[in-house]
Amino acid sequence: MKLTRLGTFLGAVVEDYKLDTADPDLALTVRELLLKHKVVFFKRQHLDQHQFVEVAKALSTSLGAVDIHPFKSHRDPIVRGLSPLQPYSEYPEIVGVYHDESTTRNINRWHSDLTWREAPPFASILRGLVMPPLGGNTCWADMASAYKSLDDSTKARIQEMRVVHNWAQSFQGDWAQGFQMVFGSNPELLKDMNEKYPPCSHPLVLTHPFTGETVLFTNQVTATHVEGMSIEESRELLDELHRLPARPEFQCRFAWEEGDIALWDNLATQHYPVADYWPHQRKVERITFEGVTL
Ligand SMILES: [Fe+2]
Repeated sequence: MKLTRLGTFLGAVVEDYKLDTADPDLALTVRELLLKHKVVFFKRQHLDQHQFVEVAKALSTSLGAVDIHPFKSHRDPIVRGLSPLQPYSEYPEIVGVYHDESTTRNINRWHSDLTWREAPPFASILRGLVMPPLGGNTCWADMASAYKSLDDSTKARIQEMRVVHNWAQSFQGDWAQGFQMVFGSNPELLKDMNEKYPPCSHPLVLTHPFTGETVLFTNQVTATHVEGMSIEESRELLDELHRLPARPEFQCRFAWEEGDIALWDNLATQHYPVADYWPHQRKVERITFEGVTL
């Protein structure tokens, strides 16, 4: 295995290593890499969908069970209405994120995945299937470094705060139209979704369950307000915290080649898919591991 660090605080590129489901050390080796580097890129794996799911299942012994996105069923109108998330009836574990000339909606905002769930996932794995000729990189930011950058009075002020996360808030900007399309004419569906997935709160200053590191755990896509404060009262503080992952000092940036795999710690990092390749195609597919109660 050849390992090259990508950023000062996170990121490692691994070459000459095969994610081999027959390797009895695979799950533990990969978990160790993940906890140390927070995002790990396995070059030139060239897995097909079936192999991708098999690798994820092999890793599940150390990363948590393979999860199925709760909105994801080929019968679920939220998926049909909100492409580029693609459903697969054959591999329900896989969430495809496909872009081409016709795609108007991007996910180019700093976030971590599924933070609106009671138990957000520790790890996600992504395979790069089709990449544009140029661009289409993904950036990751280290939220432990972001926490350390705060002054002592801010650290003391936010120490005990909890932040409320709501899935519906993610449908803003480019996505508002899709939200309207899916729910505008179907208030019953919205009511049902809100009952199934009500807003939930997580610690703002999180002790990472596996590394013990202190990380700042809030993101602009799903965080609505600080528990016990109004949205307006929370705005200034959350806006300030949500700007932190955009600081290049905390980041690494990965230039994909087709066949590469990225695996990241979803609790310790945020990510940002750079949307600079339209009208070209870009296809990635994600599998998420079971969440952790924080
Ligand atoms: Fe994401």
